[in-house]
Amino acid sequence: MELRGLHNMADTENKNGTNGRRRFLVAATSVAGGIACVAWATPFVMSMMPSERAKAAGAPVEVDISKLEPGMLLAVEWRGKVVWVLKRTPDMLASLAKLEAQLADPKSEREMQPKYAQNTTRSIKPEILITEGVCTHLGCSPIFRRDIAPADLGADWLGGFFCPCHGSKFDLAGRVYKNLPAPTNLIIPPHTYLSESLLLIGADSKEAV
Ligand code: FES
Repeated sequence: MELRGLHNMADTENKNGTNGRRRFLVAATSVAGGIACVAWATPFVMSMMPSERAKAAGAPVEVDISKLEPGMLLAVEWRGKVVWVLKRTPDMLASLAKLEAQLADPKSEREMQPKYAQNTTRSIKPEILITEGVCTHLGCSPIFRRDIAPADLGADWLGGFFCPCHGSKFDLAGRVYKNLPAPTNLIIPPHTYLSESLLLIGADSKEAV
């Protein structure tokens, strides 16, 4: 029997640099092969607790993204790590091409993603980014900063992920900025789509489960 749990998604925003409005979304998720998951929500944070059996098996995680709105971030736990699912807006996608000169590996030539995500958006579907929420320097958890040009990140900040531990920055495709401690882009985990709105994180295809 498959159990369903609730995941919470949170997003602070806004594009003008003021962290005012907050939106929350609850999305149904499950772990393939049996789950027991519990959710709690704080901004940006979702907690999912797979069963011990699922944890031991490193089971893939099914994620319903049907309620994910453009600009919002969903965090999922997979193999003890946070995996982010970001639905990018057209403006977010447009920002990616403007940053290449500032990035260490703008074309994602290093092996930090499956082949199907080795492209300009680092994703299967352009608007949906799936990446580990783990800094590639020493493993801290970066913060989703979608605000444009905030005082602390500079006038050329177009949104992305900021690691508070030692200041590494990643754009909205998880590509790392040059000359900062993190050596590589964020890691894209194996994933596939089971349907238009059902995502499987942890396997490259349904058959691999
Ligand atoms: S752990 Fe992220 S910059 Fe050091």
